[in-house]
Amino acid sequence: MLIDIITLPGDGIGPEVVAQAVNVLRRVAERFGHQLKVSEYAIGGAALRSVGVPLPEETLRACRERAAVLLGAVGAPEYDDAPPSLKPETALLRLRQELGTFANLRPATVYRPLLNASSLKPEVVAGTDLLIVRELTGGIYFGTPRGLQDDEAYNTMRYTRPEIERIAHVAFRAARQRRRKVTLVDKANVLECSQLWRRVVAEVGRQYPDVEWTPMYVDNCAMQLIARPQQFDVILTGNLFGDILSDEAAMLTGSIGLLPSASLGEATGIYEPVHGSAPDIAGQNKANPLATIASAALMLRHSFGLNEEARAIERAIEEVLERGYRTADIYRGEGQLVGTREMGHQVCRLLARATA
Ligand code: IPM
Ligand code: MN
Repeated sequence: MLIDIITLPGDGIGPEVVAQAVNVLRRVAERFGHQLKVSEYAIGGAALRSVGVPLPEETLRACRERAAVLLGAVGAPEYDDAPPSLKPETALLRLRQELGTFANLRPATVYRPLLNASSLKPEVVAGTDLLIVRELTGGIYFGTPRGLQDDEAYNTMRYTRPEIERIAHVAFRAARQRRRKVTLVDKANVLECSQLWRRVVAEVGRQYPDVEWTPMYVDNCAMQLIARPQQFDVILTGNLFGDILSDEAAMLTGSIGLLPSASLGEATGIYEPVHGSAPDIAGQNKANPLATIASAALMLRHSFGLNEEARAIERAIEEVLERGYRTADIYRGEGQLVGTREMGHQVCRLLARATA
């Protein structure tokens, strides 16, 4: 099969981690007899510097023409005070919206060898395996009116029934492949938006009688996630709550450097690590490439239907961790401290041995 993808390395550690994921993809393609074609385009601060806009039209056009985009990270401190149209983050938000990737899947799995890497007690996080299904192209991120004046600023949280319906279906379908439990996370005691979510999710839920669903307030969920994370299977939530809870869920696993994501919609899928551009460690061969490598696995599964290949990558990641290789973010005094490139290389080495 031809695996024809776009890479958008972006800012900070983005280029380093994407380079390792591409190496891994190359190795998988060799091993399983596929052809890999990679076209790289600019986004974020990198694009601002080269062409003056965070999301060049050329980049957007190329993404529309492919089934999958592998993205590193966007965000650079030099643009912190720039107007929204000139912020690297705007590129990501616009890309998601233009490609219609409304369903953001963020799995958080605790790897056994990393039980002691979490800031929580091993017995609290052991066995955690949850999937956050975050609505990605609506809500307060995109609602209008919005504005900033000298002494007043406002944003609008707005959701429509079709927006909620389609993401709810994604969550219920995902639950069917897992432990058949959906937790709808909202703030229905305060927000009308959340009240609509409850109504619509109740209706959609009736079409999945084999899946159990319960609502939970977002403040309680933030607490439950660190108190008893094993209780969660699929967490269904809106854009803003999903953003916050996925960083929290990341820490259950030991590091945000481990969490992949898939953003799915009508056609093109966007695959990216949950972490940001980490400018403080950029260019130092320190970043953990595993989140991006795991995102590449999600890409093979969701955009190309290559399940076995995806599993091979995921198994190689597990094995690398079992063998004790650790980047700085997950190093706790045991095992071998390695850099970005060495970590990528170890995954490739194990993949070479995987059986087709
Ligand atoms: C994420 C990021 C983005 C978001 C930012 C960079 C716009 O935090 O993907 O979680 O808030 O969606
Ligand atoms: Mn985020």
